[in-house]
Amino acid sequence: MKHFVNLKDIPSKDLRKIITDAKKRKSSRKKLNTLEIDRGAPLKGKILIQMFEKPSLRTRMSFYLAIKQLGGGTVTLRSNELHLGQGGESISDTAKVLSTYGDGFMLRTDSDKKIEDFKKYLSIPVINGLSPSSHPTQVLSDVFTVEEITKKPISKLNICWIGDSNNVLDSLIAASVKFSFKLSIGCPKNFEPGKEVRNWVKKNKRKIYIYNDPKKAASGADVIFSDKVISLNDKVNKKKKIQAFKKFKIDKKLMSFANKKCIFLHCLPRGNEVSEDIFLGNKSHVWVQALNRVHVQKSILLYCFGKLR
Ligand code: CP
Ligand code: NVA
Repeated sequence: MKHFVNLKDIPSKDLRKIITDAKKRKSSRKKLNTLEIDRGAPLKGKILIQMFEKPSLRTRMSFYLAIKQLGGGTVTLRSNELHLGQGGESISDTAKVLSTYGDGFMLRTDSDKKIEDFKKYLSIPVINGLSPSSHPTQVLSDVFTVEEITKKPISKLNICWIGDSNNVLDSLIAASVKFSFKLSIGCPKNFEPGKEVRNWVKKNKRKIYIYNDPKKAASGADVIFSDKVISLNDKVNKKKKIQAFKKFKIDKKLMSFANKKCIFLHCLPRGNEVSEDIFLGNKSHVWVQALNRVHVQKSILLYCFGKLR
């Protein structure tokens, strides 16, 4: 049994193995309908318990389809309907009970400590479906999407992030170390990645390139990523933050500094950080990016259940 909480804690070779498996599985089910089960039904009889303390469309749906296509099932809980969410039951008791009913637990939460506490008391794998410090299933899937579209290993590409230093960027930074790709970040001075993640990159003898000028960050990029300036439950002065990011909008002009074949990716939901013509234009691959969550999460589930081929 393996947990999937933060890309930093997972060996590079395991992450690569997950992507390789996802590629094979995606191509082998081209003729299957959405709910048809992969050959061998590797997770037959297994149930994934999903719990969301914050809204979700993609993560919820893609995990539902992922476990179904592997022959298992899922149940979704809302934390405010549990005794835990009402403050009456401890995490340790909740975790022990969940371990008796389920085979895996996916949690989206506003507390990194809560995931760590669950990890301590669960005897089934826990998957981080987004926390303040990371969004690992999203970013591993994005590495898959980049390689699928460009047909190149990500280590040969210039990856650029224009936007806030949030959970998705923290996971992208972790991925840049694990997959050895160049990562340039364009963000305002007061919104640069935190010390902890920067020190972790240094400790791993890698570098990230931070620019307060979006044109410099985008220059020569093969892929430009972005995300909302204001994340879910972001407790900031929203007006001030949006103002600070005004020059960082991804539009035709900014894309013109990137390589000719540069693609645009965004995990969604979106705000005003990208212009409509770029988001819906031919450089954007956001819909297949969302779909690929299903394929990569299937291989993440197999990894967690010790069934990766
Ligand atoms: N990208 C993503 O995780 O979307 P949801 O918040 O809809 O799950
Ligand atoms: N950074 C965003 C990602 C949403 C999928 C958030 O945390 O709200």
